[in-house]
Amino acid sequence: MNLIKVCDLSEIPNGNTKKFEINDEEITICNINNQIFAINDNCSHDEASLQEGFIDGYEIECPMHGAKFDIRTGEVTCLPAVSPIKTYNIKINNGAIELEI
Ligand code: FES
Repeated sequence: MNLIKVCDLSEIPNGNTKKFEINDEEITICNINNQIFAINDNCSHDEASLQEGFIDGYEIECPMHGAKFDIRTGEVTCLPAVSPIKTYNIKINNGAIELEI
């Protein structure tokens, strides 16, 4: 398992998200209650960017048709999506966000 530095923790304040392209995958980093999560940015229902969606608690809502996912696990919490999205392990190291790949 390798760790890749994504950005500094200070770049994503509490309540914010930011999208990155890492190893040909679009990954959105979310800061929720000062906890950092990483999800695949592509909605599993169609072609929408979840980074452009809406966050409510630990859920992210797709801006296209309203599917919701649990940011912590990737599980679907609201249709029309039926497949989970990929999540990634994160480590915080010396103020940097690192992604496990
Ligand atoms: S593309 Fe996300 S709900 Fe349809």
